[in-house]
Amino acid sequence: MSALIDNLLWYSIVSNFWQNCLSRIGEGVDSAIEAVRRSLRASQLVAFTGAGISAESQVPTFRGADGLWRNYSPESLATAEAFTSDPHLVWEWYDWLRGLIHEAQPNPGHLALTELQRRNPKGFTLVTQNIDGLHERAGSHDVVKLHGDIWRLRCTACGREELNEQVPMDHLPPLCRCGGIQRPAIVWFGEMLPEEEWERAVDAARQANVFIAVGTSALVYPAAGLVKVARQSGALVVIVNPDPTPADDLAKWILRGPAGEILPRLL
Ligand code: APR
Repeated sequence: MSALIDNLLWYSIVSNFWQNCLSRIGEGVDSAIEAVRRSLRASQLVAFTGAGISAESQVPTFRGADGLWRNYSPESLATAEAFTSDPHLVWEWYDWLRGLIHEAQPNPGHLALTELQRRNPKGFTLVTQNIDGLHERAGSHDVVKLHGDIWRLRCTACGREELNEQVPMDHLPPLCRCGGIQRPAIVWFGEMLPEEEWERAVDAARQANVFIAVGTSALVYPAAGLVKVARQSGALVVIVNPDPTPADDLAKWILRGPAGEILPRLL
């Protein structure tokens, strides 16, 4: 009985103002995939990714059943205040996370976005909230990184940034050559997004014909606001996610399922 209900749920059609199409990968709802695939050909395309695209690479997401923020408190790990009060504790956590990411490999979802960029280098912009660097490791370039990069460190004293790929780090907290404590060059709660990256993202969203949001809960602003910017500027919005998100109402197509299965089918 519950299998029957599950099946009915999978096939239920989300109906809203934009006449969203809900489809399930691999169950004959190929028309949605085909429609999105066609739309990706001749477009100014923006792919906007979140932690979900790396889930199939075994990098945990932040929210959801196994999400990082279910087991760890963002207030004590992902704020400037937490870092100031205990840089060693914060760094222990990020050192652990760097270790997990170091073991991970890009998955077919990352690779599909790399291929879309290869096919349309001038008309494709990849905007990510992810700090894991897996898009670059999959071969994507010019990635707009809204929340920074876990492999870069920034000195809290002199502001100097550097690449650091040491896993595990040999000294916590790491120190700059000026003697200052270095922090991960990422955006924590309550901090501003890097101005240039944000402007690039908004410009791309405004110009997009198709805006495809992959693996994001669309809960964290201002990044999540890009979906609305794109929609209001006339883009066709596509969402790839196994679960509902608050941005679903803005979408023309909702492709339910894992990014690593759906994105390769859009090529
Ligand atoms: N394929 C696609 N989506 C998936 C998959 C998958 N295989 N697995 C999970 N998801 C979806 C979840 O359903 C969820 O909607 O990915 C989303 C992950 O959401 P979050 O964990 O909230 O990640 P994200 O949206 O990137 O978070 C935004 O929050 O804590 C901050 O700075 C952090 O950049 C992060 C920001």
